Amino acid sequence: MSIHDALFDRARGVLAGGVSSPVRAFKSVGGTPRYVSRGRGATMFGEGGEAWTDFCLAWGPLILGHAHPEVIEAVQRAVADGLAFGTPTRAEIELGERILSGYPGRDRCRLMCTGSEAVMTALRLARAHTGRERILKFSGCYHGCADAMLVKGGSGLVSFGIGDSAGVPAGAAADTVVVPLDDEEALANAFAQHGHTLAAAIVEPVPANNGLLVQRPEWLRRLRELCSAHGALLIFDEVITGFRFHYGGYERVVDVMPDLVTLGKIVGGGLPVSAVVGPAAILDRLSPAGSVYQAGTMGGNPVALAAGNATLDVLSRGDVYRHLAMLGEAFDAMPKGKVQWVRHGPIVWPWLGDGAPPRTDAGLDPAVKPRYNELFHRWLNSGVYFPPSAFEVGFLCGSHTVGDLEKLVG
Ligand SMILES: Cc1ncc(COP(=O)(O)O)c(C=O)c1O
Repeated sequence: MSIHDALFDRARGVLAGGVSSPVRAFKSVGGTPRYVSRGRGATMFGEGGEAWTDFCLAWGPLILGHAHPEVIEAVQRAVADGLAFGTPTRAEIELGERILSGYPGRDRCRLMCTGSEAVMTALRLARAHTGRERILKFSGCYHGCADAMLVKGGSGLVSFGIGDSAGVPAGAAADTVVVPLDDEEALANAFAQHGHTLAAAIVEPVPANNGLLVQRPEWLRRLRELCSAHGALLIFDEVITGFRFHYGGYERVVDVMPDLVTLGKIVGGGLPVSAVVGPAAILDRLSPAGSVYQAGTMGGNPVALAAGNATLDVLSRGDVYRHLAMLGEAFDAMPKGKVQWVRHGPIVWPWLGDGAPPRTDAGLDPAVKPRYNELFHRWLNSGVYFPPSAFEVGFLCGSHTVGDLEKLVG
C-alpha cells in the first residue's frame, strides 16, 4: 500500500468523501489522490518523494508558482504581527487600490474570502439594484456553490433551472434562467422572454470550468448590448480570468465592460481572498453604507491580504505577463502528437474529442474521459501534474520553462 493509499484510507475515516473539495478525490480519473507536502516554483512534491511539474497550480491562484519568495516573505512578516484583528487594516486599502488600478472606471470593491461568496454578493447586489429577481446564466459556466448557481439547465433553447445538487430548494433554482453559450439566437430569445425580469446575466468571459470554451468577442458584445437594452446588469465572473491575461480584467481583451466583476484565486495569491468590483452607485448599496447585507469574520484577513498584495505587486511589474506570452508562443510552436490543445492566454486544455474543440458544454463528448484518464495517469507517473478531470483546464505560471511545456505535450 502506498503512502497515498494509506493517507486516503485514513482521510475517509474523518473527512466527508475523504477530501475538502470534491474533484481532489480523483473520482473522475480513478486511482488514489496524491498527497502533497511542499511546492517550489513550478514543482510540487508528494508525500511519497515524488516531484511533479504542476499545471493545476492550486486550481489557478498560483500565477507566480509555488512559494514565490516575495509572497512568502510578505506572509511571514504579516504572520509575525498577528493573524487577525477584526478591525480595518492598511493592507485592505492597499489591496483595494491595487485591484481597482486594474479596473479603470470602477470606484469600489468589497473584499471577501471565496469566489462563491463574491458571486453570491454580486447577485444580491444586482437584485437590490434593479429590484428584479431573475438571473441569467450560461450552461457549462461554473460560479461556485451558492444555491442559485448550482444549475446548468436542461435541453431546449432556454430552460428554467433545476438544481444540479441535492438540497438546492426549487425556489432558489427557479429564478435562474439557463441559456447555451455561443448562440446569439438563444440569447435574443431569452431576453425577449425574460429581459424585463432579469436582475443580471452572469458569465465566465472565458468559460474554463467545463473544458476551455473560448467565446467569440461578438457574442460577448451582443450579451452586453442585450443587458443594457433590458436594464439587466452584466456580471463578469473573473475568478479565473482576473489578472491572468494582463494586470486587470478580461474586459480589456474583448473590449466589453461589465457592470460588476467577481474576483478570487490570483487576488489572494494562494490564500483565501475574493472581491466584488464595480461602480460606487452599485457597491455603495453594501452594508454599512447601504442596505444589502454582506459580512465576514475573515473578510480582509491581514495574512491573506499580504499574499494578495505581494502577488499583485509582482504582477504589476509586467515581466510575469511577458514570460507567460513567451511560453504561450513556444507552446503553440511545439508538435503536439494526437492531442488537440486549446490555449487562450496562459490557460491550456487538452481536447481529446474527434472534431474541432467545442465552444459549448453540449459539445463535450463524455467518450473522451477514458482517453483523458489514460493520459492523466501517464503524466502523473512521469512527473507532470494536470488537473484530475477531462474537463478541467491547466494553467501556465511565471515559474514554468519551455522545457516544462515540452514535458506536457511531448
Ligand atoms: C469562475 C468561477 N467562479 C467562482 C468560483 C468559486 O470560487 P471558490 O472556489 O473560491 O468559492 C470558481 C472556482 O473555481 C470559478 O472558477
